[in-house]
Amino acid sequence: MKTKYIQLLNPIKWIRAHQLNKQNGKYDKSKSDLELNLYSKILKNDMLHYGYFEDTTIAPDTISIKSVEDAQILYAQNIIDLITDKKGLILDVGCGMGGLSAILTEQKFNVVALTPNKNQIRHIQNKYKNIPVHNCKFEEVEETKKYSTVINSESFQYINLEKGLEKINAITESGAKWIITDYFRLNNDGINKSSHLLTDFIEKIDQSNWKIVYQKDITPNILPMLRFLRLYVDRFIFPLKNFAFEKFRYKQGFWYYLTYEIREGIDKKIEKEVASIDPVKFENEKKYMIFVLERK
Ligand SMILES: C[S@@+](CC[C@H](N)C(=O)[O-])C[C@H]1O[C@@H](n2cnc3c(N)ncnc32)[C@H](O)[C@@H]1O
Repeated sequence: MKTKYIQLLNPIKWIRAHQLNKQNGKYDKSKSDLELNLYSKILKNDMLHYGYFEDTTIAPDTISIKSVEDAQILYAQNIIDLITDKKGLILDVGCGMGGLSAILTEQKFNVVALTPNKNQIRHIQNKYKNIPVHNCKFEEVEETKKYSTVINSESFQYINLEKGLEKINAITESGAKWIITDYFRLNNDGINKSSHLLTDFIEKIDQSNWKIVYQKDITPNILPMLRFLRLYVDRFIFPLKNFAFEKFRYKQGFWYYLTYEIREGIDKKIEKEVASIDPVKFENEKKYMIFVLERK
């Protein structure tokens, strides 16, 4: 047997593998979200949202990385244009890599950023030293300051509705604005359950001390991003994955056979991830909304 196979019988390796497995059990998605980390390596303007494409009919194979980044800047500017209290304190909840907070600071707004994610905190503290940033979940943010505007730019889906409402009431006063840009599920059918049901959200707001003062369905404007991602997945990711598996089969038939279940698991995980960026499913199952709420 080859030495590398004999290595697998080494008990020290088994103990280390067990330790790593145990450590992985503690993975907290909000602290080190691998998907968001991946996107932050691809897009370099420190934004982790779907962007806003003015041309909703643009063909996906004509979209460049530059036009994706431009669409993201436009999305951020759409949010900024909704801020009415230009002098007040703003909280950028789930600030990602700090792109929106950076533009707000450039435009002389007074902003505090917040993210529970360790990589994002490190990045912001290195690159945007002048932006104050909280390293915690929104639900846990200290209640010592009052904000006149709270922004959830594609971060609302991660926050429990009841806890979110409790917290926002503790850090705002009457007249405050809450700008939420995110997608919402239209029903419970889809395979991907990330995001709130739109009906739940509207019902909770109706029962709260907040009222919706502006809303816009921007689904058509974010769909070009999904079509672009889908194109890359179909034309690069799937062929690459198949190539890697086939190469593995020819070079390591023994291990290929033994790892059938692992490969099946990888295929299922990919199927689930891809379903979340399927533009047709998205259009049928979700709505991407801009909401401005005002505290009564
Ligand atoms: C899709 S990214 C959006 C990032 C950024 N707002 C933007 O528009 O580029 C979602 C953000 O929400 C953050 N997040 C996840 N759970 C959160 C929570 N419970 N409280 C606050 N932020 C959270 C993630 O760490 C990430 O920064």
